[in-house]
Amino acid sequence: MRINFRIILSIVIVISIIVFLFTIFQVRQEKERLTIDLERRAALLGESLRESVEPLLEKGRPERLQKIVEKFGNRERLAGVAVYDVKDKLIAATPQLSAHLTTPLTFVTNVMNSDQEDGAFSPLGKKEMYLYALPIHREESVAGALLIIHDPSYIQDRLSLIWKNNFIRFLVNALVISLTTLLLIRWSMAGPIARMAEWIKSLRTEKNLEPLSSPPGGVFEPLTREVTHIAKSISLAREVAEEEARLRHRAEALWTPTRLKEQIRTLLREKSLFVVSNREPYMHERRGRKIETLVPASGLVTALEPVLKACGGTWIAHGSGDADREVVDAQNKIKVPPEDPQYILKRVWLTKEEEKGYYYGFANEGLWPLCHIAHTRPSFREEDWGHYQTVNRKFARATLEELEDTEEPLVLIQDYHFALLPRLVKEERSDARVALFWHIPWPNPESFGICPWQRDLLHGMLGADLIGFHIQFHCNNFLETVDRALESRIDWEHFTVERGGQSTLVKPFPISIAFPGPAMAPPAGHAAKPSKEIILKELGVKGKYLGAGVDRIDYTKGILERFKAVERFLEKYPAYQGEFTFVELGAPSRTHIKEYHDLMATVEAEADRINWRFKAKEWQPIVFLKKHHSHEEIQPFYETADLCLVTSLHDGMNLVAKEYIGAREDELGVLILSQFTGASRELRDALIVNPYDIEQMAEAIRTALEMDPAEQKARMQRMRETLKDRNIYHWAANLITALAQLRLGNKGKMS
Ligand code: G6P
Repeated sequence: MRINFRIILSIVIVISIIVFLFTIFQVRQEKERLTIDLERRAALLGESLRESVEPLLEKGRPERLQKIVEKFGNRERLAGVAVYDVKDKLIAATPQLSAHLTTPLTFVTNVMNSDQEDGAFSPLGKKEMYLYALPIHREESVAGALLIIHDPSYIQDRLSLIWKNNFIRFLVNALVISLTTLLLIRWSMAGPIARMAEWIKSLRTEKNLEPLSSPPGGVFEPLTREVTHIAKSISLAREVAEEEARLRHRAEALWTPTRLKEQIRTLLREKSLFVVSNREPYMHERRGRKIETLVPASGLVTALEPVLKACGGTWIAHGSGDADREVVDAQNKIKVPPEDPQYILKRVWLTKEEEKGYYYGFANEGLWPLCHIAHTRPSFREEDWGHYQTVNRKFARATLEELEDTEEPLVLIQDYHFALLPRLVKEERSDARVALFWHIPWPNPESFGICPWQRDLLHGMLGADLIGFHIQFHCNNFLETVDRALESRIDWEHFTVERGGQSTLVKPFPISIAFPGPAMAPPAGHAAKPSKEIILKELGVKGKYLGAGVDRIDYTKGILERFKAVERFLEKYPAYQGEFTFVELGAPSRTHIKEYHDLMATVEAEADRINWRFKAKEWQPIVFLKKHHSHEEIQPFYETADLCLVTSLHDGMNLVAKEYIGAREDELGVLILSQFTGASRELRDALIVNPYDIEQMAEAIRTALEMDPAEQKARMQRMRETLKDRNIYHWAANLITALAQLRLGNKGKMS
């Protein structure tokens, strides 16, 4: 509004100055023109009058003179006419003038004296008049003068009219220009400016650079261009900022080794972590004169190694490598990983009898089949139970030794090998925070109830402040088992068990892998990561599709069912014969146990049978690679296989499924996953199968091989996101935080 007023005021001032100057000029011109005209008319009238007056004056006819004067005196704008004799005496005059001409006029006298006509403006009576006098002659000499008097007020009237007209013109102009200006401002400025503001606003607020309104053009074109540039820069900056914020948020939400380390440092206040497991992360094996380091095939090791690498600490485990004793120090310790030591591995030695009774016997012939519903009968032998107790005590001693210098230590005990260890540690060190993580399933109370020592096992486990399983279902089974077998109070709201003044929290912690993980070197003998074609070629197979399975050779893994599914698939869809090859990377495991020993032979025989049935000259359906494979050797199969078969009959989690997902940077490949794995709860985008349903698995293989790459990608991306969110650092952080936050001696509830 103020700007409008200012613009209009400026216009009015400018117009008024212009009009004023113009009017002055016009008035001056008009006055000059009218004056000249008046003079000219007076002169003309004077000349013609003189011709009439001179003879009458000569003849001495004053009455005729008077008549002529009166006749002329009536003319428009003529105020009057007068005739003087040479002695300045008025001889004749128009009546209305007579009163003003009583005294001689100097002007007239001068004209007679000079014998020259003359004109001048001069007051007469109360008015300004134009006097024009010219001498009258008689015989060549001046005999008088003729005075013509014009009333010039019409000039003034004319000039006033000009002023008046111009003033009206000015008013009309000012009004019209102001209104036009206002309209112009409205149409060409205010409107476009409002649109421009709206446009800029939409640029500012819209996410993309497609504002709601179109930008104003015309005079605003350059401004529009500039603002578009600015908007683009702002949008870019906003995108970058949003991306940064998203990444920051993601980085904050994502668990990384560094973040876990920080979290542990805060929780443990510089104290280190103690981990106890049967399987050690590195085994030293003698190969001729050389000692080789080997990473055992164990999901537990895959999961825990990155945690120890990130946080440091001490890992207490059975020294099972044949050269293990040769490389440790006097305290049976060695710093690992060998290439970049980051934590301490303390080895505990077992006698052959102990290993046989505790590991092969009670743990793997008793508890393992007891907890896995794989229809392998558990064997419970008194002698094995004895060794199990002895070895648990042995590990308790080794652990307590390590805890000696640490107040309120944090101890993470792993798996079914150490059901008794939590109580043994806790009895000696009530200040210790002890967690037991059970890596395998927990069956229903009826199944577990067949174990003759179930009460001892549960009692030992409940020495822990925290017991973790992969899934809630196993937690529930455990609590129901406790409920059936022991005198205790179970709080189903908080999932705690109270027994003998001790409280134990039971909680699911789905274990995972280090993802994103460190870059892996290509396998030995390869300069770069081998392609699917190279892998198949090296296997001596010509084919188009590759399927992979990676397992310890264990009856819980459903390897035979998997082979049968491959057979059925080729039978049902013969077009894939000569095209699809399934490679099983099977690591021999627990081979001193009859079931495992026999299984190995059965798996081999089954592969042979199927191969014999379908085998062609340069192709076979199944390649069974029976050996311990390093991570570097397994990785190319994960990276290139069109599908990965994880068909466990029962599995706590199964990290092979997660490793396959983690390896697929290309976001291709299909995971076929047993519904009886803990992983199937998280990896919903796998093709979920019942491994007992051979027909369904055969169909899943076909679906996987014929799946559109876009769908493969979509599924893989979602599973990789899940993996990123719930990686091993997340698992460790959750578990350790829950343990560290427990209020000891206060019913074990979260503080
Ligand atoms: C499972 C168990 C682990 C064990 C692994 C390998 O994943 O939960 O505790 O280490 O199998 O078995 P092994 O008997 O060779 O250690």
